[in-house]
Amino acid sequence: MGSPSANHVALVAFLVCLLPHCGSAKRTGYDVVSVAGSGNRLSARLKLVGGTAQYGPDVKKLSLSASLETDSRLHVRITDADHSRWEVPQVVIPRTALQDVLLDPTATPDNAAALPSSRTLSSASSDLVLTIHTSPFRFTVSRRSTGDVLFDTSANLVFKDRYLEVTSALPASRSSLYGLGEQTKQTFRLRHNDTFTLWNEDLGRSDQLDLNLYGSHPFYMDVRTPAGAAHAVLLLNSNGMDIHYAGDSITYKAIGGLLDFYFFAGPSPLAVVDQYTQLIGRPAPMPYWSFGYHQCRYGYKNVADLEGVVAGYAKAKIPLEAMWTDIDYMDGYQDFTLDPVNYPAKLLRPFVDRLHSNGQRYVVILDPEIKRNATPNEDIFLKWNGTTLVGKVWPGEVYFPDFLNPRGADYWGQKISEFRRTIPVDGLWCDMNEPANFLPMEPLNELDHPPYSINSNGSHHHINTWTVPVSSEHYNGVTEYDAHNLFGFLEAKATHAGLLKDTARRPFVLSRSTFVGSGRYAAHWTGDNDARWDELRNSINTILSFGIFGIPMIGSDICGFTGNSTQELCSRWIQLGAFYPFMRGHSEKKTIRREFFLWESTTRSARKSFATRYRLLPYMYTLMYEAHTTGAPILRPLFFSYPHDANTYGVNRQFLLGAGVLVSPVMEPGATTVDAYFPAGRWYSLYDYSLAVATPKGKRVTLPALADVANVHVAGGSILPMQQAALTTSSARQSEFRLLVALTENGTASGELFLDDGESPEMSGARSMWTLVRFSCAKYRKGITMRSNVVHNSYAPSRKQVIDKVVFMGLQSPAPPKVYVNGVQVKAAGIRDQKNGALTVSGLSLVIGENFQIQIVMSH
Ligand code: NOJ
Repeated sequence: MGSPSANHVALVAFLVCLLPHCGSAKRTGYDVVSVAGSGNRLSARLKLVGGTAQYGPDVKKLSLSASLETDSRLHVRITDADHSRWEVPQVVIPRTALQDVLLDPTATPDNAAALPSSRTLSSASSDLVLTIHTSPFRFTVSRRSTGDVLFDTSANLVFKDRYLEVTSALPASRSSLYGLGEQTKQTFRLRHNDTFTLWNEDLGRSDQLDLNLYGSHPFYMDVRTPAGAAHAVLLLNSNGMDIHYAGDSITYKAIGGLLDFYFFAGPSPLAVVDQYTQLIGRPAPMPYWSFGYHQCRYGYKNVADLEGVVAGYAKAKIPLEAMWTDIDYMDGYQDFTLDPVNYPAKLLRPFVDRLHSNGQRYVVILDPEIKRNATPNEDIFLKWNGTTLVGKVWPGEVYFPDFLNPRGADYWGQKISEFRRTIPVDGLWCDMNEPANFLPMEPLNELDHPPYSINSNGSHHHINTWTVPVSSEHYNGVTEYDAHNLFGFLEAKATHAGLLKDTARRPFVLSRSTFVGSGRYAAHWTGDNDARWDELRNSINTILSFGIFGIPMIGSDICGFTGNSTQELCSRWIQLGAFYPFMRGHSEKKTIRREFFLWESTTRSARKSFATRYRLLPYMYTLMYEAHTTGAPILRPLFFSYPHDANTYGVNRQFLLGAGVLVSPVMEPGATTVDAYFPAGRWYSLYDYSLAVATPKGKRVTLPALADVANVHVAGGSILPMQQAALTTSSARQSEFRLLVALTENGTASGELFLDDGESPEMSGARSMWTLVRFSCAKYRKGITMRSNVVHNSYAPSRKQVIDKVVFMGLQSPAPPKVYVNGVQVKAAGIRDQKNGALTVSGLSLVIGENFQIQIVMSH
């Protein structure tokens, strides 16, 4: 029963509807006029029913194509039926084009005059079902197994030349969303009533919350209660856009391109990233050395300064893997040159050679912009109105290479090769590639005036601000308006190709600007952060988001880039940063120096935290292999392993390294304790092997704030391959292996070890040498048995490396158990029963790449 006022409204609406054309005159959006399906595909034609006055004329006829491309991926593409439009090019995301079923003579179109009210696309093997509603047109995507509606568009679809808008309903109380970047956020889980503007921009600093930063990722993952099923949605579109997440809906407002949606079925978070990276490309394998510690600063004065830093780390016995140089090394800030006074080749080259002979590396920065008078007379730069576009960056007046032009990418590769003849750098750092431009570029022509102004900089500032005008032209007539968000992606791709060609080794490229799929070529860092506690905390949100974006090699400038770090903040940041996949300290030139050996507590934190990091390198590198083959992030939110536990959905002050290691860092000044959440199961201290938490349900625990290291716990059920700490990754790699076995209550555990030379271009491909071993542990009548099972073995035999020690955590035995290795009993001297439930079996020499078995027979 409606209230009197509701009845009144209904009556008025009824009377108004007696007027001619009631409804259709007011209604906006589209109707389906024809539809056809064939196998896993469906197509429809849509006709405009009613337009909107704002943002230009509506496109009258749209065509929709949909396909269940794999068992777990649905593609729905809506575009202008009569004119082709800009879409993300195949060189960015290679993919199969959708076939238009209506053009397929074997398909029978429905009778246009008597169309059914809806039409579905489903298949027995897919959990995703698409339903197209005819009049008004809208579509839903639902999960077949549960009936849950995942995406549910409203009827007021808007499709204009330079404005596209679509809204989907979401169940606010059951959905948790993650992704939609790049922005610095205070939470990892997205908050309701937030707008995400996607427009790659150099705002000069990344500590400002909620603003569009360097990269664009129109991708979110949605995890739903009660079952914890995850799915994801990608809008493959490179144009500027605002995405408004209201909680009970999500609205996309894009200023060009297509409505090109991909839906990924999950249902586990790991399955989602696997399905996503299958489409956008798997994360590039990163060289083993890149997991060591990197030191950088904007403002290193000269080669002697660099030498002092390297010596400082060596003297303090703090690991240093790679020394970096910012734009200071260049002559007048020009790429591919050396400052003849402070960084002359005759000093820099021997310095780099010495690094190399110490097993260390050297990385330099490159900005894409090329000084105007230093440019080759080639037609490979962005143009404006037919002439080469001039902007302004560090070197003064510059040109912008057009990486969409194959000759632009070749030129870049050649310059990299030439430069490496002088200075054989091991990796390259692509900065300022949004692209940044200091010259104010007034709106120049009509294209520079989009009818809808995206919320750039949170203030709708003009999209040309700090970058090149969107009316600039790329190769083949492509406009910057469409391709802007791809600039950094394309530069990273060209840099990766250039390094690979020149070195025939696995490239290391760090890129500030990214787009969907950048993980195929580059690592990323969170840009110009500030030396503040909230920045330390917020780094986790961005890092976890990039894991979901398929860019698992990510870190933040440890101790902060701008601002003067304090000793305490820097120490705590080192303890956290020791778990960043990409671990670099970097600072701005006007700030105080903060190399870790300069302070007492940072020295201690770096020694101890990096020792843990380097011991875990085999585990971390195995996670890189997992990332490269399945898209699994290296650093993961807790819900990745515990999707059924909704308490994990909001956790962003802890994270998992893989599935097996839970890190709970200190993130507040003066902290004496850390509030941590432990999901159900057993958790062992990584430091003393004791069983710290055993809980049938998730539990909050107050941990002590340790002085020099983060709290780290190993999840029951995991087996971690480890080595010994060292000052470089290459010496750590020489040491003996250890296995840390964390048993569940049922005496089970499993883990993997991936090994290769760490620098062959391919990781685990047919042409490279690699070894993969799976370890598993199970209970048997009187004890437990651990096995190694060699899955692939073309690398280990040449190395003959051994496991000398296995630690079993969580063994309760009243008396020392007996241990047998491959049936032979281990002498008592090799067994240490630590009484805290950990049993160490040492003096082993189990060859990696050979199957073995360890039996532990408990005494009763
Ligand atoms: C901006 C980068 O984000 C920063 O890391 C770098 O130090 C400066 N550019 C100078 O090159």
